[in-house]
Parts: sequence; structure tokens; C-alpha cells
Amino acid sequence: MNIAVLASGRGSNMEALAGAVRRGEIPARLVLVISDNPEAPALSRARQLGIPALGIARDRYSCRKDFEEALVGELKKADADLLVLAGYMRLAGPVLLSAYGGRIVNIHPSLLPSFPGLDAQKQALEYGVKISGCTVHFVDDGMDTGPVIAQAAVPVLSGDTPESLAERILIQEHLLLPQVVGWLARGQVKRRDRQVWIEEEKK
Ligand code: GRF
Repeated sequence: MNIAVLASGRGSNMEALAGAVRRGEIPARLVLVISDNPEAPALSRARQLGIPALGIARDRYSCRKDFEEALVGELKKADADLLVLAGYMRLAGPVLLSAYGGRIVNIHPSLLPSFPGLDAQKQALEYGVKISGCTVHFVDDGMDTGPVIAQAAVPVLSGDTPESLAERILIQEHLLLPQVVGWLARGQVKRRDRQVWIEEEKK
């Protein structure tokens, strides 16, 4: 399986994935990292790891369709089978979904369906929940609405700030995302409508 990562920012989840691939925990290749922001640290981090990395500036395209056509063109060239959105700050549009529908996953720093969208950790603190966490889900045309594959819970502690909570959630993200991508690469993830389950690995 060939994996491509889309990231808009820091790229720590991309790096966690790259580490798991390198250690042989995921039977796949990380073939390409693309960012809609050519300045994203995720791109320089990927290059340092020897992974091809490409900035495709969204603002150089007049509409989402043209931008996503360029994106899909590069993904096809790299022969990507699975797209992992890791801190990718845009909704997937019709062009991306029709090329990769059912083969796109995203990581989000809350227990969905609570707190979708931006600033999920701040939303959780403001609401006052005692447990938050992270979710890996299939991507559909909504904002963090696709079928949930796996979640990890993280307690909210008194005195938490959005930053301290984000930091503790991130530790779980770096474990959960490689685990789910490993299941996908081994064909263990089954889905019917919104129901997703993980089958035992075939030996
Ligand atoms: C993560 O918290 C992820 O859940 C969210 O954006 C953040 C990206 O962090 N979607 P990084 O770029 O992987 O370090």
C-alpha cells in the first residue's frame, strides 16, 4: 500500500506515521507528503526523513475544483492508495472524494461527534467535559462527520489550558494514527455504512 499524507502545519502526526513505517509496524510505503501551505513545517520535516514532499499553494488556484485536480494529479502520479489527513485544515471537496472516497482518513483531537472543527481542545475545555481524546475517522463531505474507526480517551485535568490538553491528546494521536493505518494496510478495517470494525489479523 502506498500512503500519502496531507498536512497544513507542524507534521508531528506525519512523523509518527513515518516512524511506524520505518520500524516495519505498517506494511506500506509513505510515498508523498503534500501541504496546501508551501511553508508548512510538515514539508521540511518530511524532506529530512527522505520522504518526497510537495507544497501546492491553495491561493494559486481560483477555485477548490482546480486546486483538488492538481492535488489528485500528484497523488495519482505517486500512485497513492490511501490518504491520511494529519492536520490538513481544509474540507475534502467532490474532486478529492470522487478520486479517493472511502480511502481517506483524518485524525481529529476530540472524541467525535463532540467538538468538530477548529480549536477542538478549547471547545472541550469551554464545555467542561471531563474526558476528551482523539478520533481517527473516514472522511466524507462534512466537517469531521465521517464514520469513526477508532478513538482514544484522555482525561481533562483541573487547571488544563487548551495547550496542556492538546499536548496530552497529541501523545495519544501519535499512537492511535499509526495503529489505525496499520490496520488499514493489513486489510483489517471493515465497514458497513457508519459501522466500522477491526478484524483479527490473518496469519
Ligand atoms: C493534530 O492535533 C490533529 O489532530 C489536528 O491537527 C493537529 C495536527 O498536528 N487535526 P500535527 O501537524 O500532526 O503536528
